[in-house]
Amino acid sequence: MTTATEEQNPLLEGLRVRRRPDPCILVIFGASGDLTTKKLMPALYSLQARHLLPEKFGILGAARTEESDDEFRERMKQAVKDHGRDEFKQDVWDELAQGMRYSTLDFADDSGEDKLRDTLNALDQERGTQGNRVYYFAVPPSAIGTLVQEVAERRGAEGWVRLIIEKPFGHDLASANELNATIKERFQESDVFRIDHYLGKETVQNMLALRFANGIFEPIWNRQFIDHVQITVAESIGIEGRAGYYEQAGAIRDIFQNHLLQLVAITAMEPPIDFTADSVRNEKVKVLKAMHTPGPKHVVRGQYGAGFVEGVDVRGYREEDGVAPGSMTETFVAAKLFVDNWRWADTPFYVRMGKRLARRETTIAIQFKRAPHPPFEDGGAEGLRPNVLLIHVQPNEGVSLAVGAKVPGQGMTIRTVHMDFLYGGAFREGLPEAYERLILDAMLGDATLFTRSDEIEEQWALVDAIVAFWQRDRPSFPNYAAGTWGPAAADELLHRDGRSWRRH
Ligand code: BG6
Repeated sequence: MTTATEEQNPLLEGLRVRRRPDPCILVIFGASGDLTTKKLMPALYSLQARHLLPEKFGILGAARTEESDDEFRERMKQAVKDHGRDEFKQDVWDELAQGMRYSTLDFADDSGEDKLRDTLNALDQERGTQGNRVYYFAVPPSAIGTLVQEVAERRGAEGWVRLIIEKPFGHDLASANELNATIKERFQESDVFRIDHYLGKETVQNMLALRFANGIFEPIWNRQFIDHVQITVAESIGIEGRAGYYEQAGAIRDIFQNHLLQLVAITAMEPPIDFTADSVRNEKVKVLKAMHTPGPKHVVRGQYGAGFVEGVDVRGYREEDGVAPGSMTETFVAAKLFVDNWRWADTPFYVRMGKRLARRETTIAIQFKRAPHPPFEDGGAEGLRPNVLLIHVQPNEGVSLAVGAKVPGQGMTIRTVHMDFLYGGAFREGLPEAYERLILDAMLGDATLFTRSDEIEEQWALVDAIVAFWQRDRPSFPNYAAGTWGPAAADELLHRDGRSWRRH
């Protein structure tokens, strides 16, 4: 496993080397939303604190809410204090806040766009940002198409324009295709940065480091040595007041379509020839194209009822504010997936994700096949389980390898022990937030950690197939209590194959 002192593989240089971006203005559509408050502004502050933002830089917040520049700055300052990972420093904030403006924008009325353009041009003159713009679309998918057209129509002659587009990207394959077509008519693919913030997580990138900076894993990273893979994206939180969005999305569109499938793609992809955006994404898209689920029996959905999570009584999903009393929205999905290629044929990828599960945990577990013949005396190897390489994406970020070891003493008794690498112990620097990495990469024009249009379309094709299965039956919801590991059917999914979910 890599440590801070080991030499780096040139393939991964791109992960380390940082340039400073060109001067630019970041325009945030949806500046009064949760994402801006909880993630974007704290990330921008952390970048500013590390001198990673362009020297000439401005931020223009745009949303429907009426707000003055000063009110916007004040609200954002509070957001950084409440949600930032760094200690708040007035001088760092002042430098960032100097270039901040706000523009009230009714997305349905295009005269607002003219006002926005005028404000942007004035800010451009003041900050010397040379017409370069990054537009961040933190708005629902239905608003994105029109905004993209407006941005394209008002594009100035000078400077570059890049688009960062939040998930969900569409609602199904047809709507994603339509949005991709609108964008492609006006912009190059290299100007488009579709966000999946899981790709910005250090531990997800470390999966690439683990696989492609080390020679020992590649020879065994295949169907001959790996029995199966388990990926868990468990959250203990509920829907956090987002019923309007979640009722439409459900777990399949909120997590499975994007974060979960990207974790599968990174685990299963072939080694890219280099670490450029196209090479990496070409390999991921091949995996997504090769992925299928064998049928309705292999996909389980669930919805939480009332229960007890981390010491607190919580309501069921149907009792959450804004959720319909008879809602059939799923808050849990488990599935068996296959990747039909030479490396993975017949090797199951079991995945599960859900809200209000027992605790927050995202892990990728690579379970190797059993040793073919344990040559120990009777009962000596009873405590021995197959080797598992466990990537802790969050929390307790790190990697752990379960191996059999001899219990000290007479005789030969084997038990499973763990060789652990913990980020906290190996590196002094705290882990950056995913959004810091991603905003900076988009400003630098590096799309490696963003989803390309063909990846998004493959992801939706799989989701559409699953949603089509679901039209045929109506499960009885709720079917798991908050604070558990999901419905019993998720356990049966593995038991049928003689396997079980990793113990917690
Ligand atoms: C978001 C989902 O994309 O990811 C949320 O919309 C979810 O529902 C969140 O809570 C999880 O992100 P993280 O980084 O906390 O694992």
